[in-house]
Amino acid sequence: MNEKKKILVTTGGGDCPGLNAVIRAIVKAARHDGGYEVYGSIEAFNGLLSEPERIVKLTNRKVSGIHVIGGTIIKTTNKGNPLKYPIYLGDGTIEYEDLTDMLIQKVQKYNFEAIINIGGDGSQKISQVLFEKGLNMIGVPKTIDNDLSATDLTFGFSTAVQVATDCFDKLVTTAESHHRVMIMEVMGRDAGWIALHTAIAGGAEICIIPEIPYNLNTILRDINNRYRKGRGFVNIVIAEGARPKGGKIVGVKAKDGDENFKLGGVGNLLRRQLEAKGCQAQIRTTVLGHIQRGGTPIAFDRILATAMGFKAFEMVTKKEYGKMVSYKNHQLESVPIKKAIKDYNHVAKNNYLLKTAKSIGISFGD
Ligand code: F6P
Repeated sequence: MNEKKKILVTTGGGDCPGLNAVIRAIVKAARHDGGYEVYGSIEAFNGLLSEPERIVKLTNRKVSGIHVIGGTIIKTTNKGNPLKYPIYLGDGTIEYEDLTDMLIQKVQKYNFEAIINIGGDGSQKISQVLFEKGLNMIGVPKTIDNDLSATDLTFGFSTAVQVATDCFDKLVTTAESHHRVMIMEVMGRDAGWIALHTAIAGGAEICIIPEIPYNLNTILRDINNRYRKGRGFVNIVIAEGARPKGGKIVGVKAKDGDENFKLGGVGNLLRRQLEAKGCQAQIRTTVLGHIQRGGTPIAFDRILATAMGFKAFEMVTKKEYGKMVSYKNHQLESVPIKKAIKDYNHVAKNNYLLKTAKSIGISFGD
């Protein structure tokens, strides 16, 4: 009897609604095919790099029904980059080591035919290096930020927009009842996609995104105009990566081996700036944070994630290594990972949704 080929699945970076649906689809497609077994490395590559290794066989039973559950059953981390692996020295300092050779040896030890790495731009950069070093890598784009340019959509993004819109709707009632300015800060890193989509879906008066640094005087003018016209409330959506013209992004450098700059706080900065400028209205800020990443994926993301999982499995069978699944024009394609990580997906000046938002009167504070 022929031995089954082994696929390793990893989920890296921040969690995201739909990760489990991808995992389930890979396992089910492999079962349907009959020639493959699927394994998961716990916490991205950490599982494979640990001694003893933390690797689980992903059976049909293990993945049954998980497509409706948020997070990832094989866990994730943003502190496990094998190219720059954090080694914690007892005195609180961290040194970084390149563990790719060790990773390659482990892949050989377990005889993994291919690795499906489900992750955002950071994870796909790792996929590309591992591919160049000889591993059979396949990428699946994941992030609520939708900031990968090679794909029209990443799964998880639409759920984040739905969560943000539901929250926005709840804040509108307080804005109206109290004649307040309500500022809602959403995630998205350096891209304004979540903010833009939420502002249109919710009906915001003002939307501040990283791609358009804001002018405080413009925002104050727009607020005052609303009150002057007797519309005594304003709802503002602001992306965490936004900044004032000539100013800096707001956040802190992580100290714990996580390479990413932790964004957050620009909503409160804007409130303080408006108050200091003499804004007469009461202002309140709500920072949505991780609730945008949690909970059950909406139907669209479950479907997209399932289709992406199947596509990734199909790419293994066709040996399309060094490529990432991409959703383009309502179809799934495969694109070289190298191309996928080249450009960041910003909201372009001529984007149709940006134009739509402006044409229905949403101010971008520029
Ligand atoms: O990339 C997804 C994301 O949720 C960003 O929108 C946000 O800036 C970041 O991750 C938060 O990361 P962490 O969970 O490490 O705080």
